[in-house]
Amino acid sequence: MTIKNIKLNNGVLMPEIGLGTWKADQTGVLEQTVKTAIDLGYRHIDCAKIYNNQREIGKALKETSVPRKELFITSKIFQNKHRPELVPGAVDEILDELQLEYLDMLLMHWPYAIRPEQDSADFTADEVEDVPIMDTWKAMEALVDSGKVRAIGVSNFNKTILEKMIPQCRIVPATNQVEVHPYNQEHDLVAYCQSKGIVITGYCPLGGGKINVMNDDFIKRIAEAHCCTPAQVSLSWLLARGIVVIPKSNHEIRLKQNLQTVTLTSDEIRMIGHIKTHERKVDPSRDIEQLKWVFHEDQAKCPVI
Ligand SMILES: NC(=O)c1ccc[n+]([C@@H]2O[C@H](COP(=O)([O-])OP(=O)(O)OC[C@H]3O[C@@H](n4cnc5c(N)ncnc54)[C@H](OP(=O)(O)O)[C@@H]3O)[C@@H](O)[C@H]2O)c1
Repeated sequence: MTIKNIKLNNGVLMPEIGLGTWKADQTGVLEQTVKTAIDLGYRHIDCAKIYNNQREIGKALKETSVPRKELFITSKIFQNKHRPELVPGAVDEILDELQLEYLDMLLMHWPYAIRPEQDSADFTADEVEDVPIMDTWKAMEALVDSGKVRAIGVSNFNKTILEKMIPQCRIVPATNQVEVHPYNQEHDLVAYCQSKGIVITGYCPLGGGKINVMNDDFIKRIAEAHCCTPAQVSLSWLLARGIVVIPKSNHEIRLKQNLQTVTLTSDEIRMIGHIKTHERKVDPSRDIEQLKWVFHEDQAKCPVI
């Protein structure tokens, strides 16, 4: 099955459906999942250092007969490597784990930094540190120049922070990877990014196994009308908005289904866009006061850019 590409702001082509790999880390399972996905036609794999499973993905990539240049591999720098002098080493480590020479996309996973010695997501408030986002970004720009990455982007960036960042960028982010699904629609952020030529990549496009999108009565009714599943409706709705999707599954039948999207009518697209339930799966701030701005712009204490 051939997946359509979206052209990024630097001309690089990104497949509009990719494979998510967060929490897909049971030993042996992920390697097989990646191989199956590639056999089914997936060419875009979404990885991250913090998922602690890149070596397994690397094994699958090493064994595939699909040429490297036909694959689109994304990875993300964890927050403990934001100090600019740590960025090149962080990418070398990612490349070593994935057994690759270059990445197609490198993302800044979150718009805040934590201390270098903290390498888990269980950090505390006193481990958050001030590293200006532009310092990290300039180190990422240099990696494009060196050929280690073909495109760079951000993740979990809100509009306020992008508005401050873009005028200072030599390379404007190619994508902003954020949580988007029918229960977290992000109309303003999507419109803003698209107006700046930044492609939105939607994570948790199915609700991440936690948000109840798949059981929404309205989504289910549309699925029945198209003889498809709620998952296919959610993915099709995101694609219709020009959003790249990266659903995760460990099951072949679902991997296949997630590639078989449908054409929704403009009324269906509009009506899903009016769903009022608002729930988000991922919130990094937990009880950390200085991170509340990440998703709650009105409480913004936007950090140093
Ligand atoms: N940048 C970030 O901060 C960030 C944050 C979160 C996620 N991500 C990325 O986005 C990817 C996707 O997000 P996600 O994994 O949280 O959630 P998701 O893809 O929305 O949902 C995955 C869940 O849906 C199930 N599923 C998959 N296909 C299905 C289908 N056709 N029908 C019914 N259920 C289905 C999966 O179960 P099975 O596996 O059992 O099929 C799993 O429980 C991640 O894997 C990761 O790569 C990025």
